[in-house]
Amino acid sequence: MVQHVVLVGLMGSGKTTVGKRVAARLGRHFVDADVALEEIADRSIAEIFERDGEAGFRDLEADTFEELLEHHEPCVIAGGGGLVLRPENRARLRRPDVTVVYLEADPAFLASRVKPKPHRPLLHGDVSPREVLARLHDERAHLYAEVADLTVSVQPFHDGSASPKDALATEVADRLLAHEAGARA
Ligand code: S3P
Repeated sequence: MVQHVVLVGLMGSGKTTVGKRVAARLGRHFVDADVALEEIADRSIAEIFERDGEAGFRDLEADTFEELLEHHEPCVIAGGGGLVLRPENRARLRRPDVTVVYLEADPAFLASRVKPKPHRPLLHGDVSPREVLARLHDERAHLYAEVADLTVSVQPFHDGSASPKDALATEVADRLLAHEAGARA
């Protein structure tokens, strides 16, 4: 069975860049769940956080994710970093027609790379990105691990390759194909 693929992991782990390249390698559509949410809500994530708070954002995130999985063609979805927080999202991530790839990295490494883009209000407070990411890692690492079919460590690719995201995408695509072949056997 060809599956939906969902990339999960903290902000800065490369879900969007790697997801696009994995989708190209697998010949599937790519969807960035944050972009889809903004299109469906017709508002930016920054506005949603400001007006409705994080809880309002999480409601929309769960609705968007449900809708994306109903897309009949299997696609590659980059989930937002907090997708795993809601139990209903974790139940969807565990569906047999969904393969979850966890891009794992430690918070100090991520803090050195992450960009405080407008769709990341959690990084815009007074607390440093390193502290925010350390807290989010403590809260979420076990949830990412709980839903992951495949876990790939990001940092070794940055230490050992001239084009880390290409190397990472190749590894993820190869492991997904092996996983799908194993599921069919
Ligand atoms: C969030 C991560 C963001 C975005 C929102 C909340 C989080 O997505 O969904 O700002 O809770 O970690 P990225 O992980 O794609 O940056």
